Amino acid sequence: MNEQTDIRSLFEPRGVAVIGASSNPAKIGYKIVENMIASGYQGEIYPINPKGGEILGRPVLKSVVDAAGPVDMAVITIPAQFVYGAAEECAQAGVKNLVVITSGFSEVGDAEEEKRLVEFSRQHGMRVLGPNIFGIYSAAAAMDATFGPGGILPGHVAIVTQSGALGIAMIGKTAAESLGLSALVSIGNKSDLDEADVLGYLAEDDATKVILLYIEGVKNGDRLAAMLKQITKRKHVVVIKSGRSKRGAMAAASHTGSLAGADDIFDSVMRQCGVLRATSVQEAFNWARFLADAPLPPGPNAVIITNGGGIGVLATDACELYNVNLYDDQPKLRETFKGVMPDFGSSKNPVDLTEQAAVDDYAQALDAVRTSPEMHACLALYCETALFDTEQFASLLRRQYARFRGKKPIVFSLFGGEKIEATTQTLRKEGIPVFADVYEAVSSLGALYQSWRNLGREEDVLDEPTFDVEAIRAVLQSARADGRSFLLADEASNVAELLGISMPRSTVARNLEEAVSAAEDIGYPVVMKVVSKDIIHKSDAGGVALDLENREEVIDAFQAIMRSCRAYKADAAIEGVEVAEMVKAGVETILGARQDASFGPTVMFGLGGIYVEVMKDVAFRAAPVSNKEALNMISEIRSYPLLLGVRGEKRKDIESVVQVATTLGHLVNVCREISDIEVNPLVVYDHGNGAKALDVRILLGEDKGVNPS
Ligand code: COA
Repeated sequence: MNEQTDIRSLFEPRGVAVIGASSNPAKIGYKIVENMIASGYQGEIYPINPKGGEILGRPVLKSVVDAAGPVDMAVITIPAQFVYGAAEECAQAGVKNLVVITSGFSEVGDAEEEKRLVEFSRQHGMRVLGPNIFGIYSAAAAMDATFGPGGILPGHVAIVTQSGALGIAMIGKTAAESLGLSALVSIGNKSDLDEADVLGYLAEDDATKVILLYIEGVKNGDRLAAMLKQITKRKHVVVIKSGRSKRGAMAAASHTGSLAGADDIFDSVMRQCGVLRATSVQEAFNWARFLADAPLPPGPNAVIITNGGGIGVLATDACELYNVNLYDDQPKLRETFKGVMPDFGSSKNPVDLTEQAAVDDYAQALDAVRTSPEMHACLALYCETALFDTEQFASLLRRQYARFRGKKPIVFSLFGGEKIEATTQTLRKEGIPVFADVYEAVSSLGALYQSWRNLGREEDVLDEPTFDVEAIRAVLQSARADGRSFLLADEASNVAELLGISMPRSTVARNLEEAVSAAEDIGYPVVMKVVSKDIIHKSDAGGVALDLENREEVIDAFQAIMRSCRAYKADAAIEGVEVAEMVKAGVETILGARQDASFGPTVMFGLGGIYVEVMKDVAFRAAPVSNKEALNMISEIRSYPLLLGVRGEKRKDIESVVQVATTLGHLVNVCREISDIEVNPLVVYDHGNGAKALDVRILLGEDKGVNPS
């Protein structure tokens, strides 16, 4: 079910059957035929209904096998219990894709029937979209095979949605906002085709410039991530995911029958893949519309032109929030704008033309930004004034937008009364990026810049793992053979050693001589701990000695430990003492890797102690990770400056953390039978002095096999 597929015939079918086509305008089977005709689909449409007759002037066939020409797609709109039978007829008719609108499968608990349908279809060379969907629109075939309200405009944004109701509502919204679509795909239960398959087509579709994904839960997330990583090198991808909150996640889970992945992981992985994550549908629409039309900026420097100081400051704040870099060359700014503002205006960025600015001043200022090689994007703000009327400003704005178009990105934000609001609406309908709210304008420009940075990113170089996988597997297997789904401390240390993760050296000494020679071998200072299954609280029993600096101290401590433990519990069986390297203090970090239910192998990094427990200051990545990506993850946490060295402290050995992170990522990717591995703490020393893992825990799970990516 996961192999790459060519599903072009789903988007550009030569002929389409509508099984369950009805002459009753209240039925979905009618609406689909109506939309197919209205959208201008040029291929043959075959309405299918055992009753025969005619629908919207088209003859109705009793069965799909009666179709005279090729049927690449069959839209199925009959009750669930009849769908399998319809699929059998489709197989006979050589249909390539089933678009199953019908509800009543896995989303209500009937996963068996869904599986049966998919298995049959795949055996007969058919792919299944759905079930439980509202259909598919494809501009490439001028085909609206949905039961939505119709009126979809062709354009450059592709929407792929898991939610049906929201998807249908989006059709109305795209029309209201004049947002043109290249495709709209409802994926519903994702029984066979999922986001990744659909993305495979959209990646190659020239009309699609922006992809907007609405996701509720992720299945086969590693495959999705791999696909997204490739696409975002060439196209903008915006994602909205419901289930951010815990309650939301539960609602999403019960809604589609699939579990929403933990949001932090989703968020991190999307960032890793270069995907823009919107927080609301409105934001996603704003971005998608802007990105579909905006040229890529020729560089990082944006300039704000305003006639109001306050709104300029708001825009500056927003630029910081959305990571838009404001051009800062003061002499150049002064020279560029000195002719267009009164003496009391400010040519600092934001360039404040003041309330006295006339339309011509605006025009000159915008022309200056457009023609300056140092200025790469423009944010034009306007507060309603008494000096010139809104109409004049609207025509200036249209002219300027046309001049900027295809050269440099520009966004506008207008603030004022009723006339301004009406103008904003009119201009938006014309497809000009005008916003009532400054933050919305800047967030759109910020999205373009974020995507621009992703588009230009270098290919990630992944080093091959260097550890001995078979030797590690042997350790795991011996734990399994012992009936355990966890590794004992010495087994985990053994794995750590095989991975090249440095742990404190330690040996169990059975007598004083062995203790002394172990200490000499390890090097001072050392710690000693009693080894006895009868003594659980070693410190209480006086069974621990720290910071032993030399041979004499080891001898004294050994004797003291034996004495106190005997006094504590006379009949305790004492095997000896563990002599271990005394670990120096450093920055305590946590590194983990696990099989995530949605994304498969993932790695996690955080600072130890309160940083991870109280502040939840952690970052995630889909594994395996390159050195560069591991460093991105590490530098993403808020407490990262502690590793860089604060208040005169030296920079820590971040390279060692990167190395452990990449190693753990490779490990859980190669050994899918490891469900969790946690290195906690990994004590990181000054640059050049490495890091030491004090504890390594490994849990085993079910090996679900490697997902192809
Ligand atoms: N082949 C062709 N036509 C068939 C058929 C078959 N094997 N079996 C029945 N039909 C005909 C019916 O006779 C009917 O035609 P008619 O209006 O001329 O009588 C038509 O197909 C539809 O069947 P009907 O039984 O009337 O079903 P319906 O239209 O009430 O409901 C669904 C069918 C698919 C819409 C419904 O079962 C369903 O799943 N609804 C939810 C859809 C949904 O919300 N999807 C998710 C959106 S996000």
